[in-house]
Amino acid sequence: MAEKDIKDKTTNAAPPKFFTRAEVAEHVGSTNTWIIIHNKVYNVTSFLNEHPGGEEVLLEQNGQDATEAFEDIGHSTDARQLMETFKIGELVEEEKVKDAKKKSIYWSNDNPDEENFSGSWRSWLIPIALGVLATLVYRYFISTH
Ligand code: HEM
Repeated sequence: MAEKDIKDKTTNAAPPKFFTRAEVAEHVGSTNTWIIIHNKVYNVTSFLNEHPGGEEVLLEQNGQDATEAFEDIGHSTDARQLMETFKIGELVEEEKVKDAKKKSIYWSNDNPDEENFSGSWRSWLIPIALGVLATLVYRYFISTH
C-alpha cells in the first residue's frame, strides 16, 4: 500500500506527456474516449457512464477538441476539478490554442460589451486628438495674423 502511494506520487510528479491533435484523433472508433479541452488531453473512458450530461455527448467529441462544447454548457467548478482526474497529458506546444485566441473567446462569452467598449473608446481617441490639434493650430494661426 505504502509502496503504491509512493508510486502514485511519482507518477503524478512525472513531466506531462505531450500529444499531437492527430494522435488524439486516432482514438476515434476505438474503445477509448480521448478529448481535448483547453489544450489538455483527457481520457474519459471510465467516466462515460458517470457523466451527468450523458455518455453520448462525450462519445461525439471523441478524438476532438471539445473546449467550446465544454464551455458552452458552463460546467461547474466541481466538474473542472473532477476532469483533472482524467487528464493524461497535453497538446504539443505548437498545436496549443494560444492565449490571445483563448482570451477573445472568454471575453466574448463573459462580457461581450467590455471589448467593444474599450475598442470604441480607443477609436474615439484619434479623432479627439486631431480635433484638439486642429483647434490649437487654428488659434495659433488667428493669433499670429
Ligand atoms: C472531462 C470532461 C468532463 C467532465 C469531468 C464533465 C463533468 C460534468 C459534470 C460534473 C456535470 C454536472 C453539472 C456540473 O457540475 O457542471 C456535467 C454536465 C454536463 N456535461 Fe459534462 N463533463 C465533461 C465534458 C463534457 C463535454 C466535452 C461535454 C459536451 C460535449 C459535456 C456536456 C455536458 C452536458 C450537456 C451536461 C448536462 C448539463 C445540464 O444538464 O445542465 N461535458 N458534466
